[in-house]
Amino acid sequence: MTHWWQRGAIYQIYPRSFQDTNGDGVGDLAGILGRLDYLEWLGVDACWISPIFRSPMADFGYDVADYRDVDPLFGTLSDLDELIADMHRRGMRLLLDFVPNHTSSAHPWFVDSRSSRDSEHRDWYIWRDPAPGGGPPNKFQSLFLGSAWEWDEPTGQYYFHSFLREQPDLDWTNAAVRTAMLDVMRFWFRRGVDGFRVDVVNLLAKGPELATPDHPDEHLAWGQEPAIHPLMRELRAVANEFDDKVLIGEIWLPPTELVTFYGTELDELHLPFNFGLLELEEWTAETVCKAVGDYEAAMPAKAWPNWVLGNHDRHRVVSRIGERQARVAQMLLLTLRGTPTLYYGDEIGMFDVEIPRSQWRDPQGLRGGDTRDDERTPMRWDASELGGFTTGTPWLPMGQPAGIDVATQRDEPTSMLALVRSLLELRRAEPALNVGTWTDLGHAGTALAYIRAEVAPGERRFLVCLNLGDKPAALPAAASSLRGTILMSTLDPQRRGPFEGRDLAADEGLVIRLD
Ligand code: NOJ
Repeated sequence: MTHWWQRGAIYQIYPRSFQDTNGDGVGDLAGILGRLDYLEWLGVDACWISPIFRSPMADFGYDVADYRDVDPLFGTLSDLDELIADMHRRGMRLLLDFVPNHTSSAHPWFVDSRSSRDSEHRDWYIWRDPAPGGGPPNKFQSLFLGSAWEWDEPTGQYYFHSFLREQPDLDWTNAAVRTAMLDVMRFWFRRGVDGFRVDVVNLLAKGPELATPDHPDEHLAWGQEPAIHPLMRELRAVANEFDDKVLIGEIWLPPTELVTFYGTELDELHLPFNFGLLELEEWTAETVCKAVGDYEAAMPAKAWPNWVLGNHDRHRVVSRIGERQARVAQMLLLTLRGTPTLYYGDEIGMFDVEIPRSQWRDPQGLRGGDTRDDERTPMRWDASELGGFTTGTPWLPMGQPAGIDVATQRDEPTSMLALVRSLLELRRAEPALNVGTWTDLGHAGTALAYIRAEVAPGERRFLVCLNLGDKPAALPAAASSLRGTILMSTLDPQRRGPFEGRDLAADEGLVIRLD
């Protein structure tokens, strides 16, 4: 038996940037609802929406002040109920973004926690005395730069924050915290939400070094504390109380460590996010083959893989590898074994918009890191000035030129949009391409190839050949002797014809049904 989240493709919506309906320049839930026809037409099976909960928006929603309500910027709880109902009517699923590692400093729990050393919620967060000679307890750095410890004058202690000082970390060793947070999951599951993308989930277990005064300034063992696994099992047990829910965890670790988050009994996360393709420094047949091979080799038996090309924290795929190779990358994403997650706008080839520093909004950038605004610009729905995104002033500049928009590309048979849609359609129609096996045929020069096949012997088999270079390339030997029918090319999604082992054109990827 396979699950919907194995067969289907997930689409990430950054809600601020998807569709505004009230003219405030920020996307909202009503906007997503109004675009469900598009998402259904595109052929995605589920949407993951970055946080829409009540929040002061210090980190644009990753600082939650109420886990059980929608921020008025995005709409109301009943808008969300309507969205869930409409998606379900269409056979689509909705995933919310659960942020368990930290709350907003405006969350009532933290407001109470910092009110006095004796407050009810004091030990829901991580408080420490100053180091013996004064100053922060140790040199731990926040992932957003600067000390991870914030001095709180009224109560004379420091609190710990992995990210902004407005995002104090919860103490997950505290049973009351666990109970409260697991109940948040139940609250949304009961409302019909189909699962969660779980923010920095491996940071929930801190480890003893947090209390070490002479600890160096790095998060050395961060995210790999053995104590993390029982916590993952607790999250999973809550999901298991309901039918067919999915937990996808945000974890930035190499394959061999990442896969431990499936759990030895497959009793932890359904899908620890695999960022292998997103993190590649070089885009070559060799590096891609290695990323895919290393991950597949690390996968425990019966665990299900997944792949990601872009998200709201990393530069867009078009900006990393160019538009022509981004098409090849989409073919890779949508034909590998494992659940693909698409980042909104990648299907029309949106690129990073270089935003002048004076207009930066992302706190990571404003504190001296790399800004993430570039990859968060508004979705362009049509060729008009404001792209059909808003009637007001967009919260970030539109940036993308006309042509990188849905309306234009819908009518172009060779557009990026046409390619992504055709790939999704083929993937959905062919079990070999969604739940089938994967066999590596290796790489040669700039080309790589693999086979996807249905599990039952004698069933349909597909050959995927990709040229990661901008010159023609011969196929790997194991692929050149195979014969079949070309179903799609990255150069033209409609291209069909016999396949007789020919070379690949520059930037060409092919999906071939084998004889
Ligand atoms: C990871 C999220 O993807 C990122 O956008 C956010 O800033 C941090 N976690 C903190 O929640």
